Amino acid sequence: MSSTATTTEAAPTVELSTLPLRGGEKKAEEKAEEYKYAHLLPHFSEDRYPPLEPYKHIDPGHRALKHANPRAFLDSAERVVELTPHLGTDVKGINLANLDSDGRDQLALEVARRGLMVFRDQRDFIDRGPEFYKKWGQHFGRLHVHPTSGHPKGYPEIHLVYRDGNTSFNFEVDDSITTTVWHSDVSYELQPPGLTTFFLLASPPTGGDTLFTSQVSALKKLSPQFVAFLKTLKAIHSGVEQAEFSRAGRRGGIVRRDPVEHVHPVVRKHPVTGEEALYVNRQFTRRIVGLKREESEAILRLLYDHIDKSADNQARVKWEPNTIVLWDNRVTAHSANVDFRHLPDARHGARITPQAERPQPALEGLDLSA
Ligand SMILES: [Fe+2]
Repeated sequence: MSSTATTTEAAPTVELSTLPLRGGEKKAEEKAEEYKYAHLLPHFSEDRYPPLEPYKHIDPGHRALKHANPRAFLDSAERVVELTPHLGTDVKGINLANLDSDGRDQLALEVARRGLMVFRDQRDFIDRGPEFYKKWGQHFGRLHVHPTSGHPKGYPEIHLVYRDGNTSFNFEVDDSITTTVWHSDVSYELQPPGLTTFFLLASPPTGGDTLFTSQVSALKKLSPQFVAFLKTLKAIHSGVEQAEFSRAGRRGGIVRRDPVEHVHPVVRKHPVTGEEALYVNRQFTRRIVGLKREESEAILRLLYDHIDKSADNQARVKWEPNTIVLWDNRVTAHSANVDFRHLPDARHGARITPQAERPQPALEGLDLSA
């Protein structure tokens, strides 16, 4: 997750190798030393990155559409359970690390169709380490390098989340009554991510579930007349606030690439499935282009309220050890759930984040210039 919720902590200046990963009596250094994934703890290099260049994204899901059975990769699964009718599938008995190129193409298509997939017992994948994570992600697109987050030393393509009883290196707000912040990751980029892989390396014994919602279902709930209007709209998405958060000394205090703002359609079309999805989020969308301020605020507030309260569009992932979650960031939104702040245990996760196409408007020909 690129975001979560509340903290009032000052700028973290501790060395990551001394982070306490578990409560107890041992010294922090000893605990970090024995932590199996200490090499994947967040590192904040002071490198500077140039602006991202556009790239041509070819979605692997297109190849799967030509396959005789695009769900063949699930044939040997021990259990395939739909979390809800329209969002999410929970799978047991498939080793993702062993999927060949065809299988990965099929996975991309199935995640696009289901929005979210949860794979249990993926220790083999997780233990293969960051070189493998990179190769995995590169099958699905160019890997996004986050401008402000921590990454394993030497692997800026791997985005990390980290929080424990003393420290947070997440993008969090400190003045809200809730830790729920629905968003689509880094939607301020010209080409935001598509198929996204995320897993936890350490987690508290309870809490820290991840919430998901279908932006396809959210759109379908709206009246056809209103959807027709929304399709004519475009909105500004901004990375400025996230960068300011780091510049204020939080997260890791590093901004490696200047923040950007881009204009995206309010309703986008998935390039493979053709499904239309609402594409605004409270975290990064700032205003609707061309409308008066009050009009923009009223429409965005209505859409955010709809996203917030529609539990009938949502699914909730409870983490078990060695769970890997994949979502299609183009047609879903998600939120962390920071209900474990009082616990000493660390929640440490890694995200592999391939970029996808520039969001395609559902209304053909919509001018996306600002
Ligand atoms: Fe996120």
